[in-house]
Amino acid sequence: MPALEFPDPALTDGLVTLRPWRESDLERRFEAFSDPLCLRFSWPLTGTPSLAHVRERFAAQEEARLSGDELPLAIVDAEDHLWGGCSLYDFAPGEARASVGYWVAAGARGRGVATRTTRLLAGWAFEHLALARLELVCEPANVASQRVAERCGFVREGVLRSHIPFQGGRRDSVIFSLLPGELLTSTALEVR
Ligand SMILES: CC(C)(COP(=O)(O)OP(=O)(O)OC[C@H]1O[C@@H](n2cnc3c(N)ncnc32)[C@H](O)[C@@H]1OP(=O)(O)O)[C@@H](O)C(=O)NCCC(=O)NCCS
Repeated sequence: MPALEFPDPALTDGLVTLRPWRESDLERRFEAFSDPLCLRFSWPLTGTPSLAHVRERFAAQEEARLSGDELPLAIVDAEDHLWGGCSLYDFAPGEARASVGYWVAAGARGRGVATRTTRLLAGWAFEHLALARLELVCEPANVASQRVAERCGFVREGVLRSHIPFQGGRRDSVIFSLLPGELLTSTALEVR
C-alpha cells in the first residue's frame, strides 16, 4: 500500500495542533506517557515502558506509516508543547475502514484535548481517505475515553470479548463506530 502522507498543512483547530512526531519529542513523550492512566489503558505489555520502548514505537509507527497502515501524530498546543499522541491505525483501504486512538498528558486532561483531536483526525480521515467507517475501541472501564467517543458522535456497538492481548492476559473492548456524516463538531469545548 502507498505511504499515508502527513496532513499538510498540519491539522489544527487553533488550540490543538496535530503534527508529525519528531525525534526531539521522545523524552517528553516518554515522561508524559509514564503516567498511571496511560499505563492502565494504553500500555499493552507487562511492566512499565522505557525510553527505549518509546524509541522503538516511534520507529515502528513510521514504518507502519510508510506501508500505509498507520498515521501517527503528536498533539501539541499553540506553542508546540506536547499534549499527547494520537493515531489513525489499521487502515484497510479495500474496506474503507480505519481505527482511531489517543492519549493525553495528565496536565492537559479534562479540557477537551482528546475530543478536539478526535474531531480533527476523523474529519480529515473521512475527507482524505474516503472512509466508510471509523472505529474506536477502549477498555470497558475507560469512561473518559468513551465520553470522548460519544462527544464526537461515535455510536457504541457492544463489547468485543477477549479482544486483544493485554498486560499478560487478554482484554475485552467496547467498540464504537462513526460513519460519514455522523461526526459531531458542535458541543461547546474550552481549552483553558
Ligand atoms: C481518555 C483521555 C485521552 C481523555 O482525554 P481528555 O483530553 O481529558 O478528554 P476530553 O477532555 O476531551 O473529554 C474527557 C471526557 O471524559 C470525562 N472524564 C474524564 N475523566 C473521567 C472519569 N474518571 N470518569 C468519567 N468521566 C471522565 C470528562 O468529564 C469529559 O467528558 P464530559 O465532557 O462529558 O464531561 C485521557 O484521559 C487519557 O489520556 N487517558 C489515558 C490513556 C487512554 O485511556 N487513552 C485512550 C485509550 S482507548
